[in-house]
Amino acid sequence: MTDIPAIDALYQESRKFPPPPELVSSAATNSTRIYAEGDDHQNFWEERARSLVWRHPWDQVLDWSGAPFAKWFTGATLNVTESCLDRHASATPSKIAYYFEGEEGDSRTITYAGLLEEVSRFANGLAELGVEKGDRIAIYMGMVPEFPVALLACARLGAVHSVVFGGFSPEALADRINDAKAKVVITCDQSRRKGQTVDLKAFADAAIERCDSVEHVVVVARTGADVNRVPGRDVDYRELVSRQRPVRPATECSSEDPLFILYTSGTTGKPKGIVHTSGGYLVGATTTHREVFDLRPDDVYWCTADIGWITGHSYVVYGPLANGATSVIYEGVADYPDKDRFWNIVEKYRVTQLYTAPTSIRTFMKWGDDFPGRNDLSSLRILGTVGEPINPEAWMWYRDVIGKGRCPIVDTWWQTETGHMMISPLPAVTETKPGSASMPLPGISADIVDDEGRSVPFGGGGYLVLDHPWPGMARTIYNDPDRFVDTYWARFSSPAEGRWRYFAGDGAKRDEDGYFWLLGRVDDVMNVSGHRISTLEVESALVDHPSVAEAAVIGRADPITGQAIAAFVTLKAGVKGNQPLIAELRDQVAGKIGKIARPASIVFTEDLPKTRSGKIMRRLLRDISEQRKLGDVTTLANADVVQEIARRAQMQATTEE
Ligand code: WT7
Repeated sequence: MTDIPAIDALYQESRKFPPPPELVSSAATNSTRIYAEGDDHQNFWEERARSLVWRHPWDQVLDWSGAPFAKWFTGATLNVTESCLDRHASATPSKIAYYFEGEEGDSRTITYAGLLEEVSRFANGLAELGVEKGDRIAIYMGMVPEFPVALLACARLGAVHSVVFGGFSPEALADRINDAKAKVVITCDQSRRKGQTVDLKAFADAAIERCDSVEHVVVVARTGADVNRVPGRDVDYRELVSRQRPVRPATECSSEDPLFILYTSGTTGKPKGIVHTSGGYLVGATTTHREVFDLRPDDVYWCTADIGWITGHSYVVYGPLANGATSVIYEGVADYPDKDRFWNIVEKYRVTQLYTAPTSIRTFMKWGDDFPGRNDLSSLRILGTVGEPINPEAWMWYRDVIGKGRCPIVDTWWQTETGHMMISPLPAVTETKPGSASMPLPGISADIVDDEGRSVPFGGGGYLVLDHPWPGMARTIYNDPDRFVDTYWARFSSPAEGRWRYFAGDGAKRDEDGYFWLLGRVDDVMNVSGHRISTLEVESALVDHPSVAEAAVIGRADPITGQAIAAFVTLKAGVKGNQPLIAELRDQVAGKIGKIARPASIVFTEDLPKTRSGKIMRRLLRDISEQRKLGDVTTLANADVVQEIARRAQMQATTEE
C-alpha cells in the first residue's frame, strides 16, 4: 500500500453522533433491521423495484451468469419516464418538480404536469428530427430547466443520452460525440456563470466541425444572444417544441436497454464511456435517494451538482423525479452576486435537504460564518456530501454552522460507475463519525483487500472493492468491453472460483467498528473539487504544445479543492521557461480538456525523475509538491534531478506567495 499516503496517520477521530431522536421517531427508515434485510440482496432490491412503474414484470432479479456483465430485472420492460413523470403528473399534477433559480435572480417553477408536457413535446420534436430508439444524443448545456427536459426527452424515446459537462472544451466534446457517434447535439446559445456568459453554441460548433455523425443541433436560447445558425442543421428549441403535440407515448424499453453513456476519466488519455441501463439504474438511484435523504412528501431537496456529472444524473434528475420530489436547480456559482447566495436559496425555498461537495464546504468555511449567518437555515433537516473525502474539520463546520447541530450528515461514497450511492449513513439509523462515509448501504456489500486480494481485518487499510453486484452498476464501457473487465474486475476477481470483485480505484481503511474511511484514489487519477481528472490526459494536453518535450502531472493536496494539479514540464532545446509560457500552457490545457483541468502550478525542469525502465516516478513529484521528506530515490536512473526540481518548486511556491 505504498501509494496510499499516510494511511496510519489519518483519522484518529473518535467523535460519534447518533441520529437525533426527533428524526428517529418521524423517519420512515429508522431501524437497524434494514441492514439485515439488505443481506438478502436480491430480495431487498426486488422489493424496492416494486415501487416503480413497469410495463411487464421481470423473470429474474439478477442474471449474473455473464459476469462481470450484469443483467438486472431480466425480461422486464419499462420506460423510466413513466416512473419519473406520468404517475406524478396524474396523481399530483400541480406538485412542483423543479424550482429553477437563475443566476441573475430570475426564477421559474415547473410542475410535474408541466414537465411531462414539455418532455413530451421535446420528444416529439426529436422524433421529427429523426431520432429513434437506441440513437445517441449528446447534451452540452448550462443548468437551465431544459437540461433535465433534454435527458428525459431522450429517455422517453429510448434514445441514449451522453451528457458532456458544459465546462468541457470543444475538443473534449468532439471526442465524446465521435466515440458515441451522436446523431443530435442539444446545447444552449450561452450559459451564465459568475455574471458572465459562456459561448456554448460557439464551442459546440467548433466541436461539431470534427464530427461526421451529427445531423442536427438543437439550441436552447438561454440569453438570446445572436449565435451562428447553420441552415438545415440547427434548430431553435422553442420553435421546435411549440409546433409539437403535448403528448408522446413512452417507448417501451427492456430493463437492460441503455439509458445513458457518461464519460469519465481513467488512467489512460482516453475517457471511458460508462454505460448505464434502465431498470436497475432507476431502482438504485430512486431507493438511495429516498432512504439516504429520508425523503418526505413536502420536502424541498437541493443537490447543487451540475447535471453534467453522475451526481446530477442520479440525484437531480432520475432519483428525485421517480420519487416525486420537489427539487431546486440553481444555474450559477456560490459567490454571485455575493458569498451568501446558497444560503439565500436555502431560505427562499425552505430547503430541507442540501447535497453538496466537500470542496464547496471548505470554501464556505474559508469565507466565514458571517455569510450563512445572514439567512434562516432552520428548514434544513439532512445535509449530504459527495465527491471526495471530507476532512473532519469541514464535516464539523457543516454540522455546526449550516446544520446548527440538528442535521445528520450523510457522507455518500460512490462513483460514475456505481450509478448510485454505495457507502453512506442512513440519517435516522446510522451513528455518524466526522470524516467517515460509515458503512455500505443495505443491499450493498463492500470489503477492503490487500495487494494479494485478501480481506483486511477491521483496523486495517487497503483497496476498496465491491464484492456483490448491485442494480445500478455500470454494464460496460461503450465500445470497449475488454477495458471494462481489465479496469474494474481483473485485479481482484477469481473467475475460476466464480468470485467477482469490483475494484473502485480508491484506498480505504476500516476501523474497529467496521466504518469505512475513504483515503482517495490509488491510481493516476486526480480528484480536483470532486471532479475526476486523469494525470495522463493533462500530460498529453501539455505535450501537444510545440515548446514542450515532456510533462508529468500529479495531484497535490490542497486545503480547498482536495487536490490541485501540479505539472512538471521539460521544454524543447532552446525554449525558455517564463511566466507567459506558463499562462500559455494553462490555456492549452483549458482548450484541450476544460478549465477544470488547468494546472494550478507549472514547474519547468531539465529532466523528470524516472525509473531505469523510463517510468516517471509520480510519487516523488507528490513528495516534492507536498514538501515531504523525499521517498526512496535509489531506484531512479537520474537521482540528482530530484533535488533540482525540489529547489525550483520551492522557488515557485515562494514567488506565488
Ligand atoms: C470518485 C468517483 C459520485 C459522484 C461524484 C464523483 C471519490 C466520491 C466520495 C466520498 C471519498 C469520494 C472517490 C471515487 N469520491 N465520493 N463520499 N468520500 N471519496 O464521481 O467522478 O465518478 O468520482 O470520487 O475517489 O472513486 P466520479
